[in-house]
Amino acid sequence: MKKTIEEIQDPQSVELLKALHILTRDGKINQDSRRKLKQVQHLYQFIEPLLLELETQNSPLNLVDHGAGKSYLGFIIYDMFFKNRSQGHVYGVEVREDLILKSQDLQKKLNFTNMSFLHLNVADSKHSATFPSEVNIVTALHACDRATDDAIDFALTKNAQYIVLIPCCQAEVASKLRENKNFLMKSPLSELFRHPIHTREFGSHLTNVLRCLKLEASGYQVTVTELTGLEHSMKNELIIAKKHTGGRARLSAERLHYLIEEFGLTDLKKRFSTETTTEKE
Ligand SMILES: C[S@@+](CC[C@H](N)C(=O)[O-])C[C@H]1O[C@@H](n2cnc3c(N)ncnc32)[C@H](O)[C@@H]1O
Repeated sequence: MKKTIEEIQDPQSVELLKALHILTRDGKINQDSRRKLKQVQHLYQFIEPLLLELETQNSPLNLVDHGAGKSYLGFIIYDMFFKNRSQGHVYGVEVREDLILKSQDLQKKLNFTNMSFLHLNVADSKHSATFPSEVNIVTALHACDRATDDAIDFALTKNAQYIVLIPCCQAEVASKLRENKNFLMKSPLSELFRHPIHTREFGSHLTNVLRCLKLEASGYQVTVTELTGLEHSMKNELIIAKKHTGGRARLSAERLHYLIEEFGLTDLKKRFSTETTTEKE
């Protein structure tokens, strides 16, 4: 049974939670942070077995977290798993330099040696020489908009064994549906998104469906589940992809192509395309 945050007694973990402003200076839980913490704690429970499996396989434990923000997730994973191990590294990728500097300060204070915070756009990360050639686990918790897709591309380039995503808002597919509405209205399927609120919701749903198909078409087994109750976050869809041979790659590739054509998303073909070159090729 995992400890709830109230039960965490280790002085360094308490220090970390205070530094992340999850706990107030007198050790109470900051209500505003409680929801974020619940999400991260829940997410850790999904990530830990993947890390343990990699460890059993003697695979390098390199984890890259995209759109890291204040790096709640990276710090908590490090604290719970990496802190007491001699191997492995946690990388946080974030486009805001101020957040990177804060994370680096905190890392020094806590002496979390095997962490790096990189001031990078996720889209550029797959070309960065900073990462090791083997990155076995890639995470993106609420990485805004297309950053989730760029995180997927990074993971595919690295041939990562596991990809863990909780997508954030995504407006691009909805905007294409809106743009093409007149044309798409000829199909009864347009009823799925005829009303504006449905356009937004369906656009977001379709985006995640296309992401899952792309992952499957790229040789991953995908599970989609809820992260926490909706009371903790509206952006609650958890996608876990595991590198897997013998899956439904061909069928998913066909269906991906079908959906892109059916919903007039050919402009976005490249984003959802499976043609990502891997470093190992
Ligand atoms: C909603 S916050 C989530 C932060 C963190 N993952 C969490 O859940 O606490 C999204 C973060 O992604 C960063 N971000 C958005 N687009 C990015 C991009 N293309 N490259 C790198 N970081 C990005 C933002 O600056 C922001 O800090």
